[in-house]
Amino acid sequence: MEVAIQSLPFLVKGAGVTVFITLFSVAIGCVIGLIAGLSRLSKNRLLRVLATAYVDFFRGTPLLVQILLVYYGVPALLNDAQGFLMENYGMPQLIENYAMPRLLAAIMACSLNSGAYVAEIFRAGVQSIEKGQMEAARSLGMTHGQAMRFVILPQAFKRVIPPLFNEIIAMLKDTSLLSVIGIIELTKSGMLVVARTYEAFAIYITIALFYLVMTFSLSRYVDYLERRLKTGD
Ligand code: ARG
Repeated sequence: MEVAIQSLPFLVKGAGVTVFITLFSVAIGCVIGLIAGLSRLSKNRLLRVLATAYVDFFRGTPLLVQILLVYYGVPALLNDAQGFLMENYGMPQLIENYAMPRLLAAIMACSLNSGAYVAEIFRAGVQSIEKGQMEAARSLGMTHGQAMRFVILPQAFKRVIPPLFNEIIAMLKDTSLLSVIGIIELTKSGMLVVARTYEAFAIYITIALFYLVMTFSLSRYVDYLERRLKTGD
């Protein structure tokens, strides 16, 4: 247990990285998710197909594989493409053996993943608004776009807040997968301490408690939000 106490500052730093990547990724995920979610509801077939393919891919493959694909796969593809252009078209070398910065790869992979889940949250939110709301807005002379912006979306936003917090909770735990590409977030910082001290139980139970404190406070907050948002209806 002493080891756990001594390494506390290091673990807290790791927890900071975990929180930072989680919030950053879900924030970007919200932007991507809003666009993808509304695209899935669009009348434009191409938009719908693209958004559906994106959501299916990122929800249908493991986040771990997506992380490996972004961190190792994308740079390899860029290097191969450059080699091809240099050999066949005499293009001068622009980058020397490109490697993706770890943190960039981490945030890209988590944001893209989160965006797919958030897209479904927004889509469900919009579809949960009673049909009569759109009909009433249209019968008042609003266009489809106006009805969406001024009547449907404001009501939908309220309903998506609790699921969005659930997405933060899920992402907070899933960022532990980033340990495989050497991001020193909470889990990886624990692994490093164990490698040095062999105090596996003390360290990993401490790590687990760190996660639990964070997810538990968030889920209590979601309960509170749900109760509060209900009273406004
Ligand atoms: N555990 C699932 C996976 O590995 C989901 C990961 C992401 N979850 C999320 N809510 N963004 O694919």
